[in-house]
Amino acid sequence: LASIEVDISSIEVGQSLTVMWRGKPVFIRHRTEQEIEEAEAFPVEDLPDPLARNANLPAEDTATDANRAHGRGESRPEWLLMVGVCTHLGCVPLGEQGDYDGWFCPCHGSHYDSAGRIRKGPAPRNLDVPVYEFVSDTLVRVG
Ligand code: FES
Repeated sequence: LASIEVDISSIEVGQSLTVMWRGKPVFIRHRTEQEIEEAEAFPVEDLPDPLARNANLPAEDTATDANRAHGRGESRPEWLLMVGVCTHLGCVPLGEQGDYDGWFCPCHGSHYDSAGRIRKGPAPRNLDVPVYEFVSDTLVRVG
């Protein structure tokens, strides 16, 4: 299966990069402390979708912030990687928008939080986390 390597060294804290992988956008976000703290503080049991939806983890793992920002073998909370396809009907959500310091899908109004978890609106699931791995501090392999 095709994988890509992405240089993340120029993505400052609070910035994102979108890359294409297998024909889909993948969001790579360098999260701020505030974004991480907000996501950590929200109780998993109150999430509409309590599952991590992370291809690097077992399917039953829950949507804690650490399990969302988790690549193959390790969690680096400052980095969040997600497939940028709304789990409602497949539009591409917009970053740094919505009510939860995360992403907003303008098609039908789904709000995702700073860990990419659905919080409000018609989307049924959290944004998917793809398989990824840090090759070094500046290089991440997706897929
Ligand atoms: Fe995103 Fe419907 S496709 S809310």
